[in-house]
Amino acid sequence: MRIQSLPTQLVNQIAAGEVVERPFSVVKELVENCFDAGATHITLDIEQGGIRLIKIRDNGCGIFKDDLALALSRHATSKIANLHDLEHVASMGFRGEALPSISSVARLTLISRTENAECAWKVSADGTEKDFNPQPDPHPQGTTIDVRDLFYNTPARRKFLKTEKTEFSHIENLIKKMALSRFDIGFTLNHNQREVMNFKPAESEMEQEKRIASICGAAFIENSVKIDFEASGLQLSGWVGLPTFSRSQQDMQYFYVNGRLIKDRLVTHAVKQAYQDVLFHGRHPVFVLYLTLDPALVDVNAHPAKLEVRFREGRLVHDFLFKALHRSLAELRPGDQQNTARKVEVFTPLAPVTPVASVPVSPMQKTTSRGASNPSPIQASLPMHVAENIESYAKLYPKNDEDPKHNLNLVSPVIEKTEGMPPLGYAIAHLHSIYILTETAKGIILVDAHAAHERVTYERLKKQYHQGIVPSQPLLLPLKIQVTSIEADLVEQEHAFFTALGFELNRTGPEAIVLRATPALLGREDMDALIRDILADIITHGMSQRVLEKSNEILATMACHGSVRAKRKLTIEEMNALLRDMEQTERIGQCNHGRPTWIELNTSDLDKFFLRGQ
Ligand SMILES: Nc1ncnc2c1ncn2[C@@H]1O[C@H](COP(=O)(O)OP(=O)(O)OP(=O)(O)O)[C@@H](O)[C@H]1O
Ligand SMILES: [Mg+2]
Repeated sequence: MRIQSLPTQLVNQIAAGEVVERPFSVVKELVENCFDAGATHITLDIEQGGIRLIKIRDNGCGIFKDDLALALSRHATSKIANLHDLEHVASMGFRGEALPSISSVARLTLISRTENAECAWKVSADGTEKDFNPQPDPHPQGTTIDVRDLFYNTPARRKFLKTEKTEFSHIENLIKKMALSRFDIGFTLNHNQREVMNFKPAESEMEQEKRIASICGAAFIENSVKIDFEASGLQLSGWVGLPTFSRSQQDMQYFYVNGRLIKDRLVTHAVKQAYQDVLFHGRHPVFVLYLTLDPALVDVNAHPAKLEVRFREGRLVHDFLFKALHRSLAELRPGDQQNTARKVEVFTPLAPVTPVASVPVSPMQKTTSRGASNPSPIQASLPMHVAENIESYAKLYPKNDEDPKHNLNLVSPVIEKTEGMPPLGYAIAHLHSIYILTETAKGIILVDAHAAHERVTYERLKKQYHQGIVPSQPLLLPLKIQVTSIEADLVEQEHAFFTALGFELNRTGPEAIVLRATPALLGREDMDALIRDILADIITHGMSQRVLEKSNEILATMACHGSVRAKRKLTIEEMNALLRDMEQTERIGQCNHGRPTWIELNTSDLDKFFLRGQ
């Protein structure tokens, strides 16, 4: 067999195999070219899911008449000139491959006009890179690329296309993602001559949030906080969802690196770690985040369709992302949310209730039917198997008579409606021995006392543990606990670890241990169950090194055991002390299991519900 050069069109078709998988890929390449051309508005006309037509018009810089042939030729680009440029590339394109590849598998026409040019010029291409014969055209400044009959000459590929609807939904999702990456650009998307999307350039933060709301839903904006972090040349900004606004799928996670939407394992891992302490198991956070860094630190030439990047300093980026997100989640405090987080929508009745429409339903029935059809995280209850323990709490937060906050006069709530009202307000009652009802400046708040206390205790324990001082307190009567020999062995081996956790625990026989002191923060009830749980944790997680890594999980178990139970009514002082603690505690929005700790109903929601002032 002799060696021969392949015809240009075939070379381009081979390249197209990597770059152009479906209509979506054509749209991505062409819109990225508009970005690079400095366009401020991009109009897309799609027909039949992009299989029949993809037409994209921009008002960018345009292409010089003499460069048209080059634009359609392989390995010709205006974006880089040498290796140094490649390593510092800030534009979306750099290979000079998209247009020739697309033209080799579809019927492509290009019309373009530069600033000050007398007219636009139009050329057609078929991937052979020959016979361009530019014709004058009245097109305004900018570029229009018209791509018809995708894969008309490569039937094998055409077979893999899905229905029109599916192909279009890929395109629509892509444009949404691209619209989130460039607020300064307007986008119009038409499908089969019907307008599907129309975004004007969004300059102010309000306009940007409006764009996000129309892409991710209004609830996203209501339940997220804006963040902006900068360290060692890296910047992370954007919107992160509150942990209580998580999803069962990873479908609302947008991450851009220097404006490029990417999927990256390192990023996913860092985000997951940052949320792990606050997210209910199996749930996924939502976010729209922008990482900006020196282009020299990112290799964008790592994936044929540029869907992935490689970080040259992976560790640095990972740690930065983790820290930035971890901090923002930790800093969430009651009253902090700039957006109206935690708004409870159930309180917006669809229509005034008329007597005719009201069918008598017993309260019992109501609860079960709603609970079954729409289980909210608030309703999800965890098996808590330890008894009440409040005395310790009261002891830890002694009444402070000097402090007016602790000296609340229950019958004069009006006095409290002042500027100085703390974000979580003052306690009024402990409902069903579960929920603390408080009145705030804006409305009322319900706090799940156990969940909130659990988080407060957990954060304190973590702090004490990591500072190496978990104060412990001796038991009046040492507690003997029967265990298995494996567990007794563990108590012996991990003696130092138990001491660090604030326990004085020793082996007294082949299958017996004795507990002499416990962490001062925790109550005294049910300590043997707690010790058994910790031993089980250690057995599950393995050796001591792993135990240290997993110490947060163990501290969480301890906090869960040591927190107030839904059995006894808390006193007003205890409740107010808890509220004040909550305001100071990191990650207070959720308990250790990711369940919300409090909700707010503001007076306007209540007024709406009761149809007041209408
Ligand atoms: N919409 C546009 N406006 C102005 N110039 C454009 C436009 N689209 C393409 N060009 C010009 O045509 C050239 C070739 O485009 P093409 O997309 O094939 O390659 P690229 O963008 O340079 O690299 P890549 O293959 O990575 O996308 C570009 O370098 C640019 O100069
Ligand atoms: Mg390009």
